[in-house]
Amino acid sequence: MTNDVLCRVALGRKYCDGEEGRKFKTLVIELVELLGVFNIGDYMPWLAWVNRFNGLNAKVDKVADEFNAFLEGVIEEHKEKKIDDKEEGAADFVDILLQVQKENKSGFKVEIDSIKATIMDMFAAGTDTTSTLLEWTVNELIKNPKTLRKLRDEVRQVTQGKSDVTEDDLEYMPYLRAVMKESLRLHSPVPLLPREAIKDTKVLGYDVTAGTQVLVCPWAISRDPTIWENPEEFQPERFMDSSVDYKGLHFELIPFGAGRRGCPGITFAKVVNELALARMLFHFELSLPNGAKAEDLDVIFPRTEAHLGRRGCPGSQFAVAVNELALANLVFNFNFVLPDRPNTKDLDIVESTGLAVHKKYPLVILATHCS
Ligand code: HEM
Repeated sequence: MTNDVLCRVALGRKYCDGEEGRKFKTLVIELVELLGVFNIGDYMPWLAWVNRFNGLNAKVDKVADEFNAFLEGVIEEHKEKKIDDKEEGAADFVDILLQVQKENKSGFKVEIDSIKATIMDMFAAGTDTTSTLLEWTVNELIKNPKTLRKLRDEVRQVTQGKSDVTEDDLEYMPYLRAVMKESLRLHSPVPLLPREAIKDTKVLGYDVTAGTQVLVCPWAISRDPTIWENPEEFQPERFMDSSVDYKGLHFELIPFGAGRRGCPGITFAKVVNELALARMLFHFELSLPNGAKAEDLDVIFPRTEAHLGRRGCPGSQFAVAVNELALANLVFNFNFVLPDRPNTKDLDIVESTGLAVHKKYPLVILATHCS
């Protein structure tokens, strides 16, 4: 769904049908997968040569070439059907970028490669994050039936007598907004924000020299028990009378980052997620298949010693996940010999990495039409 929405906004039409659609979907999946893959050269630059042998460089080149060819096709298609030929308001993102390039009023030359990079950036940053958030939100709602009922009541009350939910209805759904905020707090799709120190500085008593890569972790901040009451609980009510927002001004909640590099797609993501969720609840009753219980949905990583006590490490669960993943990737990439496990394919967990933190197991629920 998120891919289709972005395609229509950015490229003017969906790319989901037939061979072309299948290829494009695979390409986007490969792209976001590569963005999150463990690249040893990032951490130990002298080992970057390893990527020539483990296939990472070849995969990056292949995906870059295929994406380039796809985007060239899209741009050609747009050039043939000029923006002036379209109805007013029907221009998409590519039309607008081409128009900016043609008018050349921006004070700098817009190269065709910049247009391609901008479109690709949008897909890389916008599809996986949005769908991951939606999946986690539904997961939490199934796990918290009271919240699901309360949200469904709000959606159906606001839309009484209507045949669908529209964007205008969202304004009257404060609980829906609180649910999305709480989901972004507990399941920040982008767990790490990389930055580089531009000058020598001191953070919490630690010296950070210029040029050091610093990783800010919204995931751990959002679960810090010194900031949040019952941080592991899914409680949208905490946002009902709170001014805390995710727009980058409240540093305890920064799923979209903050500052000049902060996510430019916040408003878009907010509307797409809220509308999709409201429509889902308007049209469907959600339940788990085969009589499975809500408790069966695994949301939280197991607790570890690092989590004990009030001053326990707030990032312990995250650290466990990152370490397990890094270790599994090392084994995957370096061809270690595993006793009693000659088939290394068993370790193929690449699909669980990506730009966003996915659910470890896909969510399977039944959606039946409301009577
Ligand atoms: C729930 C959905 C989303 C989340 C959680 C999210 C989160 C983020 C985060 C954390 C960043 C990095 C910010 C920083 O470094 O401070 C980012 C960057 C960005 N996001 Fe989003 N985003 C979402 C949806 C979208 C959508 C729908 C779009 C486009 C329509 C989008 C476009 C971008 C772009 C273009 C960047 C900049 C990438 C770059 O620096 O090259 N995002 N997003």
